[in-house]
Amino acid sequence: MRYHLETFGCLMNTYDSEKLEGILAKSGMERADSPEDADVILLNTCSIREKAEAKVFSRLGRLAGLKKSGKVRLIALGGCMASLRKEEIFKRAPIVDVLFGPDSAAHLPQMLEDFRATGKRQVDVAIDEHTVWDGTEDLPDKRSGTVAASVGIMKGCDNHCTYCVVPSTRGPEVSRPAASILAEVRILVAAGYREVMLIGQNVNSYGKGLSPETGFPALLRMVEQVDGIGRIRFMTSHPKDMNDQLVEVMADSKKICPAIHLPLQAGADRILGMMNRNYTVDEYLGKVARLRKAIPEVAISTDIMAGFPTETESEFQRTLEIMEQVRFDSLYLFNYSPRPGTAAVEMEGMLLKEEAQSRFDRAHALHRRIVAEKLKSFVGSTQEVLCEQAKATDGGFARCTGRTPTNQLVIFKGDKGLVGKTLQVTIKDVLGYNLEGLLAGI
Ligand code: 5AD
Ligand code: SF4
Repeated sequence: MRYHLETFGCLMNTYDSEKLEGILAKSGMERADSPEDADVILLNTCSIREKAEAKVFSRLGRLAGLKKSGKVRLIALGGCMASLRKEEIFKRAPIVDVLFGPDSAAHLPQMLEDFRATGKRQVDVAIDEHTVWDGTEDLPDKRSGTVAASVGIMKGCDNHCTYCVVPSTRGPEVSRPAASILAEVRILVAAGYREVMLIGQNVNSYGKGLSPETGFPALLRMVEQVDGIGRIRFMTSHPKDMNDQLVEVMADSKKICPAIHLPLQAGADRILGMMNRNYTVDEYLGKVARLRKAIPEVAISTDIMAGFPTETESEFQRTLEIMEQVRFDSLYLFNYSPRPGTAAVEMEGMLLKEEAQSRFDRAHALHRRIVAEKLKSFVGSTQEVLCEQAKATDGGFARCTGRTPTNQLVIFKGDKGLVGKTLQVTIKDVLGYNLEGLLAGI
């Protein structure tokens, strides 16, 4: 049996897909690079916004022809949409045969087998409140990169931001035992990976319920001790749980990158309250100040949502002011999207689409200006770049890409042998949101 897997959504979903491929390989299935060559098509899906779901339904629409022609025998839909929508998926997309949730990967080979044997639709979308990739560290991985890899440290979320589906699609927060995380990091390093990204919905609350209880700063120190590890990143940090200990550990370390993703969401306390974020704008700014004092070069990225129900123009202006003040290094900007089962979907005061879009556009334009200014200041400096990719060109050289510790993407001329190496690159120019440079030393 050959499978083709397509992944939608966040880093967590990409990581789940890498594990899923390990499970499928173990059960004897082979990967097919195109859907035309596959017996089974798997979609690992995302529900975070309406658009994410629409993308999956439109993909299913395009796959319907392949299914009808009989080439593809089975379509399985997994991840957050399966968890959120359950059997409702069959109504909108009757070509789906198997539904598996974010925690059902281990059962998937059996479900595929059962469908083939009986022709009956299979559904397993239960949330498993105990297992968190524990014991999966040595699965035959199908990683998407060769230099940097994600490692899941916790799953689910206990925060209940009023707009967010994740607590219902991925269940309560569960931390992965440190020993299992460290085992996976060691395996990655032995396989040649230089950088790990520790991922979770809220890494700063890592460790609750473990015995012995291990906080996130302590976990970072353990990962840092792994022989041969080059760089450590992590995401996402909830501002309410980011503490001084984390700042200290980051400031102390040569391996933990000076970069943090700290979602602000909105610049008015009333809106943050309605979102149930549990911090005020002043508290947020205080944390930014502490980070910058201890780690002057730190890069701060954020998420901002435009047009939360009842947000006024002057409240939105506060968001723009905070953006001016903090000068984020990168920004993920979203239009608020009502999600089923969340508290916010019940709220009155939805903004008109045009108004929400105008706010989105203004925040986007402001961020472009700030980032252009910030990137310009890199020109002329020499940066430490970990080369992640090298693509051959017609000119006889490779187009290399890599990242600075502050997560800036740098493009430079080089060759394939540079992949995985930490290089000195002199920045010559700005290319959109990226930098262009010249190799200065190895
Ligand atoms: N609408 C728009 N954006 C959302 N996010 C989460 N839920 C929604 C929603 N319903 C954004 C938040 C979060 C990021 C991962 O996605 O900004 O930090
Ligand atoms: Fe990731 Fe959230 Fe999308 Fe699920 S809903 S794939 S957790 S972004």
